[in-house]
Amino acid sequence: DRVALAFSGGLDTTVCVPLLKEEYDFEEVVGITVDVGQPDEEFEEAEETAEALGLEQHVVSAEDAFADLCFDAVRANATYQGYPLGTALARPVIAAQILETAKEQGCSALAHGSTGKGNDQLRFEAVWRKSDLDVVAPVRELGLTRDWEQEYAEERGLPVEGGDEGRYSIDTNLWTRSVEGSELEEPDHVPGEEIYEWTSAPGEETERVEVTFEDGYPTALNGESLDPVELVERLNDLAGPYGVGRTDVMEDRMLGLKVRENYEHPAATVLLNAHEALEDLVLTKAERSFKRQVDDQWAEYAYEGLVDAPLMEALEGFIDRTNQRVTGTVTMRFEGGQARPVGRESEYAVYSADAASFDTESVGDISQADATGVAKYHGFQERLAREARESAMDR
Ligand code: ARG
Ligand code: SIN
Repeated sequence: DRVALAFSGGLDTTVCVPLLKEEYDFEEVVGITVDVGQPDEEFEEAEETAEALGLEQHVVSAEDAFADLCFDAVRANATYQGYPLGTALARPVIAAQILETAKEQGCSALAHGSTGKGNDQLRFEAVWRKSDLDVVAPVRELGLTRDWEQEYAEERGLPVEGGDEGRYSIDTNLWTRSVEGSELEEPDHVPGEEIYEWTSAPGEETERVEVTFEDGYPTALNGESLDPVELVERLNDLAGPYGVGRTDVMEDRMLGLKVRENYEHPAATVLLNAHEALEDLVLTKAERSFKRQVDDQWAEYAYEGLVDAPLMEALEGFIDRTNQRVTGTVTMRFEGGQARPVGRESEYAVYSADAASFDTESVGDISQADATGVAKYHGFQERLAREARESAMDR
């Protein structure tokens, strides 16, 4: 029997290769590596590792599909406890791509190297269990720890990295780079600069960029139209040097574990902040407040890897309708590690210079004096309640 393994070339998935043969009796292991915008070195390393393991490896691309999903997340202003969901959004895309390739390759089972304590197992299997292929999870089922894996790899002479790269568990894609494990697990440990690769420590320098949106989708940077992958890559490079997009959070995992997580995501931060600034300009107060609830639900389900849920389709309906007006340009300023909106324009702006200005007397045919009646009534019920309470106390 052939088993398809979600293969990244990291420690977990590397030790899975011999274990699937020895502990699970599979005759052949097929490693499938899915491109969701990891850095080139990761593919080179994965290929070298596969070669050293004698592993049949297939590399398949899903970068464009992943970038499209990231932009859906922008329209939903999606973050989970401060984190822009990079890993969470990538998993269903990777899982679907692996399932397809596994079928083409005549595999009867699917395997992942995720821990039984984490979210990724749930996200992978939510997609895989739609099929009739078997699912195996060696790290979870054999109760492996990273220390055990390191030792096992050393004993067997498996090609794994030492140093920082081996110490931390790192997950990188187009949208987010995540670093966890080792001393970073301690909530009180202050991480050093060495854990960051995409961002520099915030300095004195500042920069400005203009981000253009059409129907809530980012389409251009400084007036230049770019496709989603290019736009994100360009913006990661532009904003990272200013220290934009670092998060250090306590994250509540699906199983209830609370874990310390470190992320970097310059482009995601810029796009999310810019998008929200444009919504603030074009949506009504009621739409803004209701959309916050819709957005929270969207992010919660995305975190759980359930982007295909019927609920998501329904939420998308609201998001799509409101975002038909999210067309325009936002000027963003990078400063002190922040990406702040400092200017915005849209033909759909719910804004009238005439109405809001202190320099004009009236709003259309409504004059200032017309507000007197409103002012007399404002707080009426509260005054009534206070009076009732006071006279009851006198009795
Ligand atoms: N905790 C994050 C999530 O569940 C990211 C985990 C990334 N994995 C890693 N090995 N760094 O989405
Ligand atoms: C992992 O499985 O690699 C740990 C991260 C997670 O699943 O939450």
